[in-house]
Amino acid sequence: MKRTLGVCYYPEHWSEEVWTEDARRMAEAGLTWVRIGEFAWSRLEPRPGTYAFGWLDRAIETLGAAGLKVVLGTPTATPPRWMLDRHPDMLALDAEGRVRKFGSRRHYCFSHEGYRRECARIVTRLAERYGRNRHVAAWQTDNEYGCHNTTLSYSAAARDAFRNWLRARYPGKGNDGDIEALNDAWGNVFWSMEYSDFDQIELPNLTVTEPNPSHVLDFRRFSSEQVVSFNRLQAEIIRAHSDAPIAHNYMGSITDFDHFDTGADLDIASWDSYPLGFLVDRVPATEGHRHAFERQGDPDFQAFHHDLYRRAGKGRWWVMEQQPGPVNWAPYNPAPLPGMVRLWTWEAFAHGAEAVCYFRWRQAPMAQEQMHAGLLRPDSVEAPGLAEAARVAEELREVPEVAACAAEVALVFDYTAAWAWEIQPHGKGLKYFDLAFEVYRAMRSLGLSIDILRPGDDLSGYKVICAPGLMHLSESDKAALTDSGATVVLGPRTGARDATMRIPLPLPPDIPGLDVTVAMVESLNPASPISLASGGSIMGYREVLEGAARVLERTADGTAAVVGSGKLVYVGGWLDATAWRRLIRNACVDAELATIDLPAGVRRRFAGDQCFWFNYSAEVHSVAGLGLPPVSVTRTVRCASV
Ligand code: GAL
Repeated sequence: MKRTLGVCYYPEHWSEEVWTEDARRMAEAGLTWVRIGEFAWSRLEPRPGTYAFGWLDRAIETLGAAGLKVVLGTPTATPPRWMLDRHPDMLALDAEGRVRKFGSRRHYCFSHEGYRRECARIVTRLAERYGRNRHVAAWQTDNEYGCHNTTLSYSAAARDAFRNWLRARYPGKGNDGDIEALNDAWGNVFWSMEYSDFDQIELPNLTVTEPNPSHVLDFRRFSSEQVVSFNRLQAEIIRAHSDAPIAHNYMGSITDFDHFDTGADLDIASWDSYPLGFLVDRVPATEGHRHAFERQGDPDFQAFHHDLYRRAGKGRWWVMEQQPGPVNWAPYNPAPLPGMVRLWTWEAFAHGAEAVCYFRWRQAPMAQEQMHAGLLRPDSVEAPGLAEAARVAEELREVPEVAACAAEVALVFDYTAAWAWEIQPHGKGLKYFDLAFEVYRAMRSLGLSIDILRPGDDLSGYKVICAPGLMHLSESDKAALTDSGATVVLGPRTGARDATMRIPLPLPPDIPGLDVTVAMVESLNPASPISLASGGSIMGYREVLEGAARVLERTADGTAAVVGSGKLVYVGGWLDATAWRRLIRNACVDAELATIDLPAGVRRRFAGDQCFWFNYSAEVHSVAGLGLPPVSVTRTVRCASV
């Protein structure tokens, strides 16, 4: 597959005179794609029902004439101010019941029917007008669903839609649901929370103490499905008028909605990769690690999302926004080391990205993102990111093909598990995303190339499958894992709750072929880790295991910590990096899969018969007979023994 580059551009921010020169310089830098339009609603429809497409026609024509292909965004993340006069109740409410006001972006509630109709209208207009435009070669729906904490809304529109959603989930006779079935499923007898009518049910916020976890889980499912149906509405309209592929640009570590489900309605998954912002903002890491990689970004965080969104895109995925220099929004915003923009880009290609687009073309001299670098400075002089992008374009001219990787190991990731952990973490800081990421990091530190899968995916061909923390696991998904033929690493909390968020009987994990029962769980202060006999520790969360399964790892005082039977391994706690790495290395030995112990900043990725080595660190590393310069990408022929 041929790999390409692109950039995000806002023609509406600049006078028309500069468009031609901008387009020429983009093409000259070797860029193929230009994404436009995703925030331009106030210029596309300045007054309700009065459209102004002329400027967009000319912008697309100018960009296309320079040889660029356009990704056209739908502008629904930024409803104009007049929209509020038509739909004063379309704004989301936060969990404290406060209105999330106009004046930035993403100011809408996914459940508001009136706003959905407005979205359908503008998307229809755009799709009718540009669906067959020869320069519009792809679409983007909205912008970063869920970003700025916008999936969950506690508005009246959300409440009404939730009640109807519950009626359908607990069906009764006719159109009304079976309220007794809901009471029973949620265990509402506890604290006299029983309802006699669906219209009595509120959203699970502003309760005196915590709301019922079953209530919250259903609200989380509902909220995710609202994002899915909002996105589907747009995708269906575009598809009726255009054959160009449709993408959405996801964000990093957002788990509030199921990206696999939204992905099912799209042709391409894409995501917005801001490695330095993320390192400060959302990577689970020590201060030492943050310091060591502050100008490079975490060596695994981008890769994790590349692999996750490759699955969400059913194999087709892009980076829609790539950090090109300092950003404006993290607590600290350093500049990347020279070479990092190129390294990030190649890492994406090595993981199978079809395209990498930089955000943004020119730094904005106005409004919220003035302190965010672009490929050009505000005065149109080249910023450092442009030369690196142009260098990758040059390299792609010589070697445009990167083969796909046939990964031998997989990590199973589940959004419902993320909600369940969030609802009942049991201890401070116990987040499913962090658990999955820490396991992924351990796998990658062993030089493994990983596929991320969702429960229910085809597991054939994998030698090792890690499925940590899957709190909800259907019987068929359990059977698929145990029958996969791979060495399967499960736990902690596998199957710890049923679909309605109750403790199942028999007690978890209840895995066929593995005689282990979780007799008790405890959460731990991070200052009180439990040492393991073979090194490393259990941190933050531990399970007391009973049963006849073989003990594979013990705590220093001799208690079972990890047990196994045949090819199944169950981990009874949240392990630290040392312990995860050992455990996964042992699983690979068991599966006859070669590993390599990589230093903290060095990672590798297989791509067909090629191997990419990435050195994120500021030091030279010598690995597998290779000298890897600081901040470098090295491509070798794959060697079977390492
Ligand atoms: C992304 C967003 C862009 C821009 C960028 C700044 O989250 O999609 O519009 O705001 O961040 O880093």
